[in-house]
Amino acid sequence: MNYFVNEKGYYGDFGGAYIPEMLYPNVEELRQNYLKIINDADFQKEFHALLKDYVGRPSPLYLAKRLSKKYNANIFLKREDLNHTGAHKINNTIGQILLAEKLGKKRIIAETGAGQHGVATATVCALRGLECVIYMGEVDIKRQAPNVARMKMLGATVISAVSGSKTLKDATNEAMRDWINNPVDTHYIIGSVVGPHPYPDMVSIFQSVISEETKKQLLEQTGSDQPDYVLACVGGGSNAMGMFYHFIDDEKVKLIAIEAAGKGVSSGFSAATTFLGKEGVLHGSRSIVMQTADGQVVEPHSVSAGLDYPGIGPQHAHLFKTIRAEYVSITDDESLDAGLLCTQMEGIIPAIESAHALAYLEKMKFTGNENVVVCLSGRGDKDMETYITHFGL
Ligand SMILES: Cc1ncc(COP(=O)(O)O)c(C=O)c1O
Repeated sequence: MNYFVNEKGYYGDFGGAYIPEMLYPNVEELRQNYLKIINDADFQKEFHALLKDYVGRPSPLYLAKRLSKKYNANIFLKREDLNHTGAHKINNTIGQILLAEKLGKKRIIAETGAGQHGVATATVCALRGLECVIYMGEVDIKRQAPNVARMKMLGATVISAVSGSKTLKDATNEAMRDWINNPVDTHYIIGSVVGPHPYPDMVSIFQSVISEETKKQLLEQTGSDQPDYVLACVGGGSNAMGMFYHFIDDEKVKLIAIEAAGKGVSSGFSAATTFLGKEGVLHGSRSIVMQTADGQVVEPHSVSAGLDYPGIGPQHAHLFKTIRAEYVSITDDESLDAGLLCTQMEGIIPAIESAHALAYLEKMKFTGNENVVVCLSGRGDKDMETYITHFGL
């Protein structure tokens, strides 16, 4: 079974590039150049130097002793929360800004939900002196206010998306519209493994550093580079794909992807795409999409802005359909409880996105010997307002 992209840009039945004609030149330019640029020795040298000295990689793999005792397994946290800017998103923006420079682009646009990708994009634009425009849903601008201030301080222009549910999907629509209108000088840094080919592949390659490091760190700490389980939350799916990447072909490693069930999978307020979705096209690729009988996108809901998305990347759709990975979901309340538990047992305040992955540990049964890696995709500073309100702190 091939779990990776084929030469046509597909993962099994999913992927491709379903784009308006006016976007074709931009996407085609990327498709023809991305592997050549990424695989160039000088590019790799600069990418890894920045990951090390600017981002602070390798991020630690931390054996969470108190959580391990509670759940009766060795629970390792891959600490993407300790990266510069506070989440895994910076791995991808470092890669894409270097690529944009090689393509001669002067202006960068991006969409953001939780604001972590927006901050990571504004950061690399400041670093390299490029103009930066971030699209963000009006609802997310309110619930992730600290990140909006960070983006502005970094010199980015933040544009509010006011259509639909005023969240990530709508911000992505606006960014695509901008790209159509500015095809020559602009690069669109998509923040997850979504969008037309080659984005899902390109973003997963940049994020694959997560599992590359994890294998080495596990070998050092346990004597084996093969965990029993790997868990990660899925919005579009980039931290999960980075966490899964180097384990995908090792079928002994169980991959678990955690989606946002919102107020409950069947409540009408959910973002559990694999439970609720059907095959369809969203934001340029064929995948699984939450949609009505006549194909209109259903507005998603999650307390976590980063998981509040009605689709998943095409590689995830393929991993779901081939049952290589298991897709499960966690409600708003379960995730907030898990966030509080991790905070009070390990002294780590996780992003609410990452707390969804932690919450699934409650539903698993262990025998005491399993090695379990959870991707702690980001830190919870941006979510303090939500935690404070929910717990009355
Ligand atoms: C901390 C964190 N984790 C996870 C996500 C979800 O994105 P993805 O599924 O692409 O990793 C986000 C998105 O903003 C995020 O900020």
